Amino acid sequence: MDDDRFRLLVQGVLDYAIFMLDPQGRISSWNAGAERIKGYRADEIIGQHFSVFYPAEDVAAGKPAKELEVAAAEGRLEDEGWRIREDGTRFWANVVITALYDDRGELKGFGKVTRDVSDRRAAEVALRESEERFRLLVQSVVDYAIFVLDPQGRISSWNAGAERIKGYRVEEIIGQHFSVFYPAEDVAAGKPAWELEVAAAEGRLEDEGWRVRKDGTRFWANVVITALLDDRGRLQGFGKVTRDMTERRNAEQALRDRGRLVGHLVEAQEVERRRIAWDVHDESIQSMVAVGMRLQLLASRLPEPAAAAVGGLDESVQAAIARLRGLVSRLRPPELDHHGLVEAISAYVEEVAGRWELAHSVRDELTDEPSPEAATTAYRICQEALSNVHKHARATRIDVTLSTVDNGTRLRIADDGIGAAAGEAGSGHFGLVEMHERAEAAHGWLSVTSTPGQGTTVECWLPKLPDVTGLEP
Ligand SMILES: Nc1ncnc2c1ncn2[C@@H]1O[C@H](COP(=O)(O)OP(=O)(O)OP(=O)(O)O)[C@@H](O)[C@H]1O
Ligand SMILES: [Mg+2]
Repeated sequence: MDDDRFRLLVQGVLDYAIFMLDPQGRISSWNAGAERIKGYRADEIIGQHFSVFYPAEDVAAGKPAKELEVAAAEGRLEDEGWRIREDGTRFWANVVITALYDDRGELKGFGKVTRDVSDRRAAEVALRESEERFRLLVQSVVDYAIFVLDPQGRISSWNAGAERIKGYRVEEIIGQHFSVFYPAEDVAAGKPAWELEVAAAEGRLEDEGWRVRKDGTRFWANVVITALLDDRGRLQGFGKVTRDMTERRNAEQALRDRGRLVGHLVEAQEVERRRIAWDVHDESIQSMVAVGMRLQLLASRLPEPAAAAVGGLDESVQAAIARLRGLVSRLRPPELDHHGLVEAISAYVEEVAGRWELAHSVRDELTDEPSPEAATTAYRICQEALSNVHKHARATRIDVTLSTVDNGTRLRIADDGIGAAAGEAGSGHFGLVEMHERAEAAHGWLSVTSTPGQGTTVECWLPKLPDVTGLEP
């Protein structure tokens, strides 16, 4: 390419300011990009010293002259910094100054290429600011201890949450090995090092366990360790987020204890009811039956009106026996022991719905007989639900459905009554609470849905093989 064409090319370039300086730094050529970026026309600027492009503070510090010196000595200089346009506004410039020597090695001047990189710088500044904001966020989080470890496990950053949860101040802890947070037995077992190894190998490790505060007290922690890798996949350290789960753990423990207690109570209640049912059946009813037989015998031998009076006594005894049998079957329905859940519930629904003049149905969709515990629970829930229908619903019919769902037993009791207003149950009402607790003690669930004017449906599900821990002594 000949010199003229090359000159034309340089002249026409718009994205770069390309111009020449004489050995003293005065401008001797100017292209279209220089005019666009800096605002001066060629006839305005040629012959001026290039320090007009520098901010006053740089000129005062002698920066333009120094840059030429370095470029002359080393052949080339690159710089980034603020430059000034003709109208006084600033832009962020990338500048390359190249020393130009002739064949004899004499300095003839400098070539200068300047780019306006304000956009790139703005993006970098925005990124830095967003990183800074993120750092501030992490710093000020108090619910989580968030900190960074170097690849060897020494602590290199610390946030407010870490100080709150672990008790160490930044200046006390930076540089220490993170194994100070572990109980002595874990350290002896090599757990801290092992956790870093796993995190490094798999990228991430989650753990729950005891950790130690500065004052020596323990807390139950949820810990996530994340390996921090650079662009090339080399390990730079670890991020560690720790939560204090002590309260949650205590609450869960309390809930478990309570569940176990309810389980015991439910179980004890069943045992007691069964015992009473047997006692009443074997002793009270048997002796009353014997009394009845003697009364009948006596009546057959007595003249009237004594015979009629004794016969009347016998009727009272028979009625009492019938009531006691009802009590026994409510305490411990014999069908549950001998015929299974559907029979027991059918007999019960038949009896009470008949007495309360309710239309009724019991649908059996069971494909699997529930365990004895689940059957008892279902029966008790059914009893309470029906007594609620009687007491509150003003219903005309009830429909009970038993089905096998999800490897468990589902019981649904629907009435067509007035429905329960939400939040109506308050203190002094234990039926719904007891139903829920029974279902939960059996590791199932119970829900009550109610539409005012259309009725109430109680639905529960009891798993087939309940985890019996709740019922263990
Ligand atoms: N089938 C239903 N139809 C309409 N309202 C109902 C029905 N079941 C329950 N309720 C309402 O929900 C309330 C709470 O029922 P729950 O069984 O807990 O208590 P209770 O029956 O009032 O008293 P308890 O069962 O302790 O003797 C009832 O007072 C009633 O207002
Ligand atoms: Mg009730």
